Amino acid sequence: MNPRKILVTSALPYANGDIHLGHIMEVVQTDIWVRFQKLQGHDCVYVCADDAHGTSIMLSAEERGISPQELIDDVKEQHEHDFAGFLIDFDNFYTTHSKENREFSESIYLALEKNDHISKRTIKQLFDPEKKLFLADRYVVGACPKCHAENQYGDNCEVCGSTYSPSELINPQSVISGATPIEKESEHFFFRVPMFSDMLKKWTRSGTLQNSVSNKVNEWLDDELQEWDISRDKPYFGFEIPNTQGKYFYVWLDAPIGYMASFKNFCDKTDYCFDDYWNENSTNEVHHFIGKDIINFHTLFWPAMLSSANYRTPSAVHAHGFLTVNGTKMSKSRGTFINASTYLKHLDAEYLRYYLASKLSSGVEDLDLNLEDFVQKVNSDLVGKLANIASRCAGFIEKNFAGKLSENLDTPEIIVEIQSKQQDIAELYEKLDYSKAVRLIMASADLANKFINEKQPWVIAKKNPNSEELQAICSTGINAFRLLVIYIKPVLPALAVKAESFLKIDPLNWKDLSYILTNHEISKFNAMVQRIEPDKVNMIVDETKHGSESKPTVKEEAKEPAGTFEPEISVDDFFKIDLRIAKIISASEIEDADKLLKLQLDLGKDEKGNQIHRTVFSGIKSAYKPEEMIGMLTVVVANLRPRKMKFGISEGMILAAGPGGKDIWLIEPHSGASPGMRVT
Ligand code: 2FM
Ligand code: ZN
Repeated sequence: MNPRKILVTSALPYANGDIHLGHIMEVVQTDIWVRFQKLQGHDCVYVCADDAHGTSIMLSAEERGISPQELIDDVKEQHEHDFAGFLIDFDNFYTTHSKENREFSESIYLALEKNDHISKRTIKQLFDPEKKLFLADRYVVGACPKCHAENQYGDNCEVCGSTYSPSELINPQSVISGATPIEKESEHFFFRVPMFSDMLKKWTRSGTLQNSVSNKVNEWLDDELQEWDISRDKPYFGFEIPNTQGKYFYVWLDAPIGYMASFKNFCDKTDYCFDDYWNENSTNEVHHFIGKDIINFHTLFWPAMLSSANYRTPSAVHAHGFLTVNGTKMSKSRGTFINASTYLKHLDAEYLRYYLASKLSSGVEDLDLNLEDFVQKVNSDLVGKLANIASRCAGFIEKNFAGKLSENLDTPEIIVEIQSKQQDIAELYEKLDYSKAVRLIMASADLANKFINEKQPWVIAKKNPNSEELQAICSTGINAFRLLVIYIKPVLPALAVKAESFLKIDPLNWKDLSYILTNHEISKFNAMVQRIEPDKVNMIVDETKHGSESKPTVKEEAKEPAGTFEPEISVDDFFKIDLRIAKIISASEIEDADKLLKLQLDLGKDEKGNQIHRTVFSGIKSAYKPEEMIGMLTVVVANLRPRKMKFGISEGMILAAGPGGKDIWLIEPHSGASPGMRVT
């Protein structure tokens, strides 16, 4: 086997907030994959960094009365400490506020500019006249222009769902100073992403993304890409754009470049060669692990930037869902917005690593940390099954056989059976289907325990304490345990170290699955895992509820993309969809749109007897002529949040089916249906 050369990254955490269990889920997912690759003998490097730029960091530093540099230095130390506590084995953890990142950001930008991939134009934005600062959407609040709900952010209303621009808010206020913002013009720089549409369509369909992610990204690509605003005006904490004054790179431009910068910093300390990994023609692998809220940055802007600047594009972007706790979004008041450091004060990192692994899959579904299930699963699997195998056999070997394993095993078939799972388990790790891998490993643990139950070494020990049979049975149990430790080592590296010391062996690797330990002296057995006391979990929750020190990270424009990734939904979810009969009362073509038609729908009357009309943009032009649609009945999702599209706001979605092109058919209800009828 030729070792693969792999560079792996996790998303860079912002340098203005604590590491919480959501971050931990991501780095644990990545770390398991990296450890698995290393265990297999591949050359795998794992780098990360703090994401140190942006308005939020500048304002946080100001709030604390320190400089941004002091803030990001303090936070970096804490982040590194928390990650180390969870046994995250970074080869390098750096910061985006580094000389390497400045150099790469500048040179990549200059390449984009030279290739005519940057456009410049003046835009109007809200400006805080007191703070002398342009205000991003989330720094402006006011009443919704549509439903007049108070305290809504500058981009959309959480009450009625409408989207608007911040200047449309009624009585807008700057979140920072409370001042009334004014409109001000400034020149901005845009990355011309639409020029990469064809390249991105190919790249996103070339096996680099999970299927559901690739489908979603291709919906975006079909929806017409927008140019991406990559500049911010001063004051801003970041890198100034070359040949400008007072214009800075938007944090999301230099953040992914931070992956390269961290790797470069690593290369400068080791024998690794940067170009071997980032050169346009590199055949080494680059894998990014990210949350589903930042897919657009990693699958559109980032590969487009890399390709413009003549670097290679990533081999894969692996997206995961969010972490929920006890079935809901993490919440400070419920005590479930748990910080890494709070968890580590009370519990061992490996409990959570195991639980997460037992639930992680290759998809983008959210993962629920159910705290009761967590205690139960860890106690039953790690203490009751895995460690139990060793503890049931070790005492006899130590006392009755001077710590020596037998020459021959009792039922070698058990060992062969466990060894035979290696290919399947390896494939599941590789595909990030850890939950299935863990299930297979635990099924093997069950097999080993069943073997011990049936052989009843404790009965034999009473009759023939020094018999070969007893030694062979216990040696078989210990060998089964050793194989299971290899399998679970990417998840539980500390337990593996304890097991290696108990077995008096060198660090285990995947290839060590092929042989067994016979005629070998082992050490005295010490318990390797303790049961979790439920009280400890309660303490974590209490401390999270009442602790004052924790502060959630402010995210820079990261949002879960609208739409679904085809996860399972519950009946309750389904009932949330308000499906109505709609009559198409007008249909028209839109200038410059290849696929879309603009439809006016009649949805019957509301409670007050007013006619409900909706405008919907639908990608159905390839299958229908506008004139033939008029008067047709169809089904509409009536409670879909309005979406801002290039040509206007779409206020719903009509249902159609078919493979595409000419073969798309509107779902047409029976002609007896009338507009507004609920579809059940
Ligand atoms: O969403 C976030 O937390 C960002 N700080 C992630 C950046 S990932 C990469 F692009 F740098
Ligand atoms: Zn509203």
